[in-house]
Amino acid sequence: MRQIREHQRSPHKNRRDFLSRFLEAREKFPDVVDEDLVHDYANTNVAGGSDTTAIILRTLIYQLLTQKQILDKVLGEIGGVLRARQEKGDADVDRPIAWAEGLKMSYYQACIKEALRFHPATAQILPRVVPKGGVELCGFALPEGTVVGCNAWTIHRDRDLYGEDADSFIPERWLDASPEQARKMESLLFTFGAGKRACVGKNIAILEITKFVPEFIRRFEGEIVDQGRWKTTSSWLAVQSGLDVKLKSRPVESLLAA
Ligand code: HEM
Repeated sequence: MRQIREHQRSPHKNRRDFLSRFLEAREKFPDVVDEDLVHDYANTNVAGGSDTTAIILRTLIYQLLTQKQILDKVLGEIGGVLRARQEKGDADVDRPIAWAEGLKMSYYQACIKEALRFHPATAQILPRVVPKGGVELCGFALPEGTVVGCNAWTIHRDRDLYGEDADSFIPERWLDASPEQARKMESLLFTFGAGKRACVGKNIAILEITKFVPEFIRRFEGEIVDQGRWKTTSSWLAVQSGLDVKLKSRPVESLLAA
C-alpha cells in the first residue's frame, strides 16, 4: 500500500504501467475497484510474474551452460543477428537484442519452447471446480463441486506426445517435428495453463525470456561452479537452486567471426 501511495506522488505517476492502469480502473469503476482490489491486482502480477519467469530463465541458463552444443548454436544465431545489423549499415553491435531480432532466432525460440516443456514453473495441478450439474470427464461422472486439474509436468513428459526422449532437454524436437506434430506439441504445452483463466502475462514473459538470455550469453561466458549444487524443490512452484556461475566477459569479436 505504501508503494501504491508513493507511485501516486512519483514523477512517473502518468507512465502507462500496470499500477497506473489499476488506479485508472479504480477511478472509473469506484463501486467495483476499491483500494484492496488495486493491491490484489498488483500483488497477483508480482507474485505471478516473477518467480515463474525466473524459473524458466534458470532452466535455460543451466541447460545452455551444461550443453555446449546448444550454447554454440544460440551464440551462432546471435552472431547472425549482429552481422545482419552490420550488413544493413548499422554499426551498433552493442545495442540490446530487439524483440524482432530474437523472434528470428528460430533455434533459440525452440530452446524457449523446450524450457517451457521441460521445466514448467508450477509443480501442482491447476485446480478447477466442476460446475452445477456435474460433468462427465474421461468416462468418469464427476459431481458438482469436485476439484479437478492437470499437472503440466505429467503432460509434458508424455512419451506418446513428445517422444521417447521426453525426459531430456532437446530443443531440436521442435524443429525436427512435422508442422502438424509441432502444432500438437505446442497446443498441449500447459506451462501457462489453459482456458479462460490461463496466464495473462504469457506474452510479457516470452518477451522477457526472448530478450534476456541472448543478451546475457552474448556478454558473458559462464561456468557453473558446482553442478552438484543444482537442485529443484517442489511446492506450488518447482524452484531450482544452486545455479552459482563464474562469469567473464565474452568478446564481441568472437560472435562476429562467421
Ligand atoms: C514464464 C512465466 C510465467 C508462467 C510459467 C506463468 C504461469 C501461470 C499459470 C500456470 C497461471 C494459472 C493458469 C491457469 O490456472 O490456467 C497463471 C496465471 C496468471 N499469471 Fe502467469 N505465468 C508467467 C508469467 C506471468 C507474468 C510475467 C505475469 C504478469 C506480468 C503473470 C500474471 C498472471 C496473472 C495475473 C494470472 C491470473 C490470471 C487469471 O486468474 O485470470 N504471469 N500464470
